[in-house]
Amino acid sequence: MDRFRIFGPCRLEGTVNISGSKNSALPIIAGTILAPGTSTIVNVPDLADIKIMNILMESMGCKVGRDWNNNLQVDTAGLNNPFGDYDIVRKMRAGICVLGPLLARCGRAEISMPGGCAIGDRPVDIHLRGLRELGAKIHLRGGYIIAEANGGLVGRNIFLGGPFGSSVLATANVMSAATLAKGTTVIESAACEPEVSDLAGMLNKMGAKISGIGSPQLVIEGVKELKPVEYKVIPDRIEAGTFMVAAAITCGKLRISNCRLNNLMAVVDRLQNIGATIEPSGDGCIVSCEGNLKPADVTTLPYPGFPTDLQAQLMALLCLADGNSIITEKVFPDRFMHVAELNRMAANIRKEGPCAIVCGVKKLIAAPVMASDLRASAALVLAGLAAEGITIVNRVYHIDRGYEHIEQKLNTVGAKIKREKEQ
Ligand code: UD1
Repeated sequence: MDRFRIFGPCRLEGTVNISGSKNSALPIIAGTILAPGTSTIVNVPDLADIKIMNILMESMGCKVGRDWNNNLQVDTAGLNNPFGDYDIVRKMRAGICVLGPLLARCGRAEISMPGGCAIGDRPVDIHLRGLRELGAKIHLRGGYIIAEANGGLVGRNIFLGGPFGSSVLATANVMSAATLAKGTTVIESAACEPEVSDLAGMLNKMGAKISGIGSPQLVIEGVKELKPVEYKVIPDRIEAGTFMVAAAITCGKLRISNCRLNNLMAVVDRLQNIGATIEPSGDGCIVSCEGNLKPADVTTLPYPGFPTDLQAQLMALLCLADGNSIITEKVFPDRFMHVAELNRMAANIRKEGPCAIVCGVKKLIAAPVMASDLRASAALVLAGLAAEGITIVNRVYHIDRGYEHIEQKLNTVGAKIKREKEQ
């Protein structure tokens, strides 16, 4: 296993280019199942999670590979085994994305139940409820979801909200399945995340009829068949937000290119309140900060609210604010594994139920810390950039799941991070 040795503190300055969105690419790769043949997906990041999705697709009979242009070619013509093995799906929750497409194309699917993970309980009841509403017969056996729709799926009006609001991947699954259903499906309380809209964009390019994209009401008129396409994935807004925080926490100045500011409005609003300056520039923005960070209250919410996937990174920044901040997690109420690790670096954070009270400190002090999940690891790297001394972040395989070449990108703009083997 690898770890990072981060020499802090540093000031970042320069240009960072944002990769394609992981959370768009995963359901988009699964969506290619709906159209037998070869689809070309452009701007797919080179990440561990994408590799796992490709292995899952290959295990079902598809062919997946990068072309000379580094685009992902997914040939789904030979798909003959609608089965998601436990050993693959347990490594990545997004494996569940193949369920809806498989059901629509093959009339059946057997997928291992994804497990919980470090960020808390992660049930799939909303996925199953939505697919059942479309006419699928679903039961659970031996840890597997067994779904059948031999007579085909039928469009319906479906309410897809859950206890914490909409669900991103349940919306992706049900929307994908509904593209080939008989009649019209209306999804109420659909997730509005840009990644869901990106998937809808690809499905429409394939010949689907989805309207209301980006709103909580999606209307999907079923069609008889979909055709393979070439499609470009949107930039990763979570990676972009992480680099925005990196500029702020190091009192630096970063030009962040290939970034859609309009997908990051809640993040821009909070960062400006805290004391960063963010100006649109070219195909992205310039983020700078001179220190004097102000405390802020932040609540994570489904899009367009503040994203839960940037909560840990913002917490690292607020550790250095002049005063007390409250962070409330309303999407994954247990997602606070990073609190104890940040406190090891001399932060002063107290967790109270779904809230964390962050009392600002003058400086963070380097320490050995443990990455617990993808975004928590990013928060520890950010803290390490600002901390005095050498921070060791163990178990960085978590960060490799979601950030393309993060240490190289940071080192190019002034960080000093060494990747080494854990002893
Ligand atoms: C996706 C993202 C993840 C992000 C999350 C919320 C991908 C690959 N992952 O995960 O990075 O943190 O959206 O923006 O795109 N829930 C249920 N029942 C369900 C499904 C979800 O109760 O069947 C709950 C969850 O426990 C959570 C909330 O709904 O409290 C939102 O989760 P959801 O939007 O489904 O997250 P994912 O789609 O799994």
